[in-house]
Amino acid sequence: MQIALVTGGTKGIGLSVVRRLVASGATVVTCSRTKESWQHALQQYPELDKVLHKTVDMTVQSDVDELFYFIQQTFSKLTIAVNNASPAIASLGKFRDLPFSKATQTLNSDFLAHAYSLQHELKLMEKGSVIINVSSVNGLRPTPNAAMYSAAKHALEGMTRTLALESVAEGIRVNAVAPGVTWSPRWQERVEAEPELKVQVEQEVPMGRFASCEEIADAIEFLISDKAKYITGHTLVVDGGLSLA
Ligand SMILES: NC(=O)c1ccc[n+]([C@@H]2O[C@H](COP(=O)([O-])OP(=O)(O)OC[C@H]3O[C@@H](n4cnc5c(N)ncnc54)[C@H](OP(=O)(O)O)[C@@H]3O)[C@@H](O)[C@H]2O)c1
Repeated sequence: MQIALVTGGTKGIGLSVVRRLVASGATVVTCSRTKESWQHALQQYPELDKVLHKTVDMTVQSDVDELFYFIQQTFSKLTIAVNNASPAIASLGKFRDLPFSKATQTLNSDFLAHAYSLQHELKLMEKGSVIINVSSVNGLRPTPNAAMYSAAKHALEGMTRTLALESVAEGIRVNAVAPGVTWSPRWQERVEAEPELKVQVEQEVPMGRFASCEEIADAIEFLISDKAKYITGHTLVVDGGLSLA
C-alpha cells in the first residue's frame, strides 16, 4: 500500500501530482495554507474526496510536526513524498535593494521548510520509498531579480544529491524535477496583472510555450515509478529547452 504526501497539492503542479497518485490507487495526504484552495480543487475534481487534506503552513515547524504526527499515527509509514509547496516569490527584485526580511522569507519557504519536512519524511520511510523534490531551472542557473529563490532552489538541488547518497543504504531514492516556466495559478495570476508577460516569457523558451502542469507531473510520476528504480540523486529538467538557451 502506497502512502503519499504531496505538499502544496491544492493547485498547479502539486494538484496534478495528487490526481496522478489518486488514479494509481495510492492513499494521498496533501496540505496547503488555506482550506479554500483545497475546497476549490475538490469542486473541480470530486474524485479527490478521499484525499486527506491538512491545513498546514510548511514554514511553521509546529504545523509540520502535527502533519507528520498525523501520518505516523494513521499509517506508521510514508512511501512517497513530493516536496512541492511554494508561495508566490516574496523576494523579487535586485538583491542589493531587497529588504533582507523578504530574502529570509524566501529561504524559509523554498528551502528550510523542505529541509525540515525531509527529516520527518526520511524517519517514516523504509526500503523502496521515494522522495521527489520540486526544484526549478532557477536551481541550475543564475536568475537575476530572484537571487534568493535561485539560491534556495540551488540548496534544494544540493540537498537532493546528498540525501540520495545518504539514503542508498536504506533503499530510499531521492530525486528532483526542475520545471521551466509552467502554466500554473502562480503564472496565471502574474499574467492577469501584466498580460504582455505571457508572450515575452514564451519567446524565451526554445519550444515557444509554457509547460502544462500535467507535463511536470509526467516527470514526477516517472521518477516515482519502478521504471526509475536505478535512478537516484538525479534532476530531471522539464523546461522545453529553456536552460539551454
Ligand atoms: N510554475 C512555474 O513556472 C514553476 C517553475 C519552476 C519551478 N516551480 C516549482 O514548482 C512548485 C509548484 O509551483 P506551482 O507553480 O504549481 O505553484 P502554485 O500554483 O502557486 O501552487 C502552490 C501550492 O503550494 C501551496 N503552498 C504555498 N505555500 C505553502 C506553504 N508555506 N505551506 C503549505 N502549502 C503552501 C499552495 O496552496 P495555498 O496557497 O493554499 O497555501 C498551492 O497548493 C514550486 O516548488 C515551484 O517553485 C514552478
